Amino acid sequence: MNMLEANKIAGAFLMSLLIILVIGHIGDFLVPAPKVERGHDAAAGHGGAKSAGAPAPAAAQATPIADRLKVAVSGEGEKIFGKKCASCHTANDGGANKIGPNLYDVVGGPKAHLPGFSYSDAMKKAGGNWAYDTLDAFLENPKAAIPGTKMTFAGIKDAKERANLVAYLRGQSAAPKPLP
Ligand code: HEC
Repeated sequence: MNMLEANKIAGAFLMSLLIILVIGHIGDFLVPAPKVERGHDAAAGHGGAKSAGAPAPAAAQATPIADRLKVAVSGEGEKIFGKKCASCHTANDGGANKIGPNLYDVVGGPKAHLPGFSYSDAMKKAGGNWAYDTLDAFLENPKAAIPGTKMTFAGIKDAKERANLVAYLRGQSAAPKPLP
């Protein structure tokens, strides 16, 4: 009797196993379709990666900083500076360094323009000057413009705001650089 019951249980168990196996196989039949889709997804992923590289061309397509500066308002830039930069920078003549360097006369000057400030190696090695377009690109996305910079700032996406800001910074100099 016990033996019979055990057999029944074993039978039921085997039956379940069989069902699981069959379902598994049905699953196998179904898998090829998702696999193909996954392939498409991967292709789409690559496409996505390519378009993720797009911001640079997109930025290049934006109105050039030279044109934006023609209509830029320095006073608006000063307000933006107060909101977004002043926690880390001063821009007046002889202003103190905070987390970031004083920015007086930075426009047109060399990168890492302030001797004595402890810049990141990335900034020290970046080379070149803060030309209007270079500065514009840096303010749009600091980490992309100078990978490894210690300026932990997300950037300003609004091209007009950046132009206003650059116009303000340009004015923070005894001899503002000529407009481009
Ligand atoms: C969280 C602090 C922080 C904020 C906010 C910030 N900065 Fe900076 N900034 C830094 C630091 C730190 C550096 C030095 C970066 C390095 O050495 O890599 C720097 C560097 C710079 C430089 C290069 C200076 C040079 O001497 O070459 C410019 C220009 C600049 N910041 C402008 C701005 C402007 C404009 C804003 C506002 C939109 C801003 N920063 C917001 C911290 C900040």
